[in-house]
Amino acid sequence: MGLIDSWDDFIVPPDLVRFHSEGRRLLVNPEISAWCTPDDVQYAVLAALVDRERGAGAAGISPRDVERSLAYLLLHYVIYLPGREPRPVMAAPGLKLVYYAITDGCNLRCPYCYASSEKALPGELDTAESMALMDEIADLGATTVIFTGGEPMMRRDLFSVVRHARSLGLRTNIITNATLVRDSAVAEEMSEIFDLVTVSMDGSTEESHERTRGRGTFRKTLHALKLLNEHGVRPVINHVVGKDNAATMEQFAEFASGFDIRMVRVMQQSALGRGKEDDATYGWQEYLAGHAFTWTHPAAKHLLPEGPKAAKPCSVKGNCGMGGVEIYVNSLGNVYPCKLITAPLDIAGNVRTQKLAEIFADPVLAEMRESSAVLGGSVHTDCAECYIRAACGGGCRAYHMADSGSYRRNSRQLCRQLRHQMISSIWAAVGAGPRTLVEDPDAFSPYLVRTGELHPVHEDWKAELTVRKSLPLVATRSAGKGCAS
Ligand SMILES: C[S@@+](CC[C@H](N)C(=O)[O-])C[C@H]1O[C@@H](n2cnc3c(N)ncnc32)[C@H](O)[C@@H]1O
Ligand code: SF4
Ligand code: SF4
Repeated sequence: MGLIDSWDDFIVPPDLVRFHSEGRRLLVNPEISAWCTPDDVQYAVLAALVDRERGAGAAGISPRDVERSLAYLLLHYVIYLPGREPRPVMAAPGLKLVYYAITDGCNLRCPYCYASSEKALPGELDTAESMALMDEIADLGATTVIFTGGEPMMRRDLFSVVRHARSLGLRTNIITNATLVRDSAVAEEMSEIFDLVTVSMDGSTEESHERTRGRGTFRKTLHALKLLNEHGVRPVINHVVGKDNAATMEQFAEFASGFDIRMVRVMQQSALGRGKEDDATYGWQEYLAGHAFTWTHPAAKHLLPEGPKAAKPCSVKGNCGMGGVEIYVNSLGNVYPCKLITAPLDIAGNVRTQKLAEIFADPVLAEMRESSAVLGGSVHTDCAECYIRAACGGGCRAYHMADSGSYRRNSRQLCRQLRHQMISSIWAAVGAGPRTLVEDPDAFSPYLVRTGELHPVHEDWKAELTVRKSLPLVATRSAGKGCAS
């Protein structure tokens, strides 16, 4: 018995989409982020399956080719046999990362700062309370504490708290503007107590860096980078990109190659905190400039040492991890789902009055970790019909919120970028080059295999956000994972 004998039973995902570029056809299954590039015969067999209701068969194609084509489509998870559909499940995510803003105090006043940091707040957790927090984080099974702020180096007891965290087996990271890493002794101590040091740099010249970070900061941060390197620390550089510095990524990449660093993490400037008032927020033009640079310029390898990343087949990204894999504790001990989601309504509890484990079970956090772009949930309702929902997982909810006003609602502009980014990675995974990735805008237009029409969400960035009706999803919560059927 061959596959052809099950002809009437094959399932074609309702919103399977296809893209075209340079004579190639790319099929993408939104349910599990599976894809393939069928040849003409394989695509004709798929089209015949879609047309079954109209009584069409695979006329004109030899039984051998039909059999081979069905095997190809099945193996690439763009069609299924009943009972063998992929069934993604939400594994209950364990807490891994805790961002701890050990102080709100900061020596700089960056105009875009989401934390709006200035002076230390009255009533910040003291040394003993910070140490007790480390105990609770370790007890809860988290692996890593990321010290942030404000400027964490403003806290005199920072290194004692960090040493305590390490003694509990926690990994310790810091995000710092590095202006207070003034001498060799400090850099040496940092090399001993931090597993990862992240230094923020906004430009490769005094002018571009100090435009946001303020006078005198470029020289100080450069000095710190040298000291850290001398003591064997290979920092990550956080590089916030907005309208004003999007065009200088090449210079920044070359500048970064002069240091021993792990990677440059390029971060979009978001309109959060003080950033709401700053009009240099990242947009579509900045995205396109970064996209072209990333996929075509040799210097991009300095930004991402492994080079631009191709997508992995048959993957399902549930959500961004807020409230599940990661949480945020502010300097007063308030616990939030993420460092960027910090409205009064988003407080899940306070470590002064409750155990962290109890707070972790709070509905504010549980709702977020149980919501998913693929399986549905209150935080991701706008994602239900998207053709890249499994690959994307719903994006950064805080970045959505910066534009839409709520982390439960998508930013149409961010979705436009995310879709372009995900489809780029998929094209790259099937070997497409710059002609497709950068020069062919049509390569990103999704056509529904069932109807031949352009997918309705593709151009939704042109319209106001409205409430969507959900498509039924094949995915269920019952069993299996990813492409395992
Ligand atoms: C809030 S700062 C705290 C740590 C430290 N003061 C520093 O600047 O590195 C943490 C990181 O968030 C970045 N950041 C701040 N506001 C941002 C925004 N509106 N959009 C994107 N990144 C932002 C900073 O550049 C920094 O890398
Ligand atoms: S980004 Fe960092 S250095 Fe700049 S104001 Fe915010 S906390 Fe301070
Ligand atoms: S692109 Fe937008 S709609 Fe699509 S899955 Fe990502 S966040 Fe959701």
